Amino acid sequence: MHVVKYVFQQHGDERGMLVALEECKDIPFEIKRVYYLYDTKKEVRRGFHAHRSLEQILICIHGSCRVLLDNGAEKKTVSLEKPYEGLYIANDIWREMYDFSPDAVLLVLASDFYREEDYIRDYETFKREMGKGRENYDGD
Ligand code: TYD
Repeated sequence: MHVVKYVFQQHGDERGMLVALEECKDIPFEIKRVYYLYDTKKEVRRGFHAHRSLEQILICIHGSCRVLLDNGAEKKTVSLEKPYEGLYIANDIWREMYDFSPDAVLLVLASDFYREEDYIRDYETFKREMGKGRENYDGD
């Protein structure tokens, strides 16, 4: 599954900590959009979609949350709880974010602008599209 946990360089001194992220260097794509989730209510699960081409890096810059990742063939869960860790998620991966701590702020760096047509929001459609991808791949 094409997901990678990054550990960003921390610049710390007696004043505190700082993390700097540059596109195409620390982040493996051009950053076209930044958004963040906060005040997420207890027991809420968000996401429930995959992207046809978008790549993202998720950083829980405060608090913690968990992410379920699913490429149609396997599933895995990743915890985000450090402001210097980033979770890279390639396209074609179903994701659900959950277990948000009350103070969680989840920052998302995205490789493209918001385009609803890039979303696959129905899990059965996702499974079908992933299945087709694998059949094509096996046939090559
Ligand atoms: P939504 O897609 O439901 O968030 P998630 O899938 O991560 O739980 O987005 C919530 C609302 O915000 C929805 O009305 C679309 C809007 N939105 C934007 O306008 N721009 C964006 O970049 C994102 C991610 C969402």
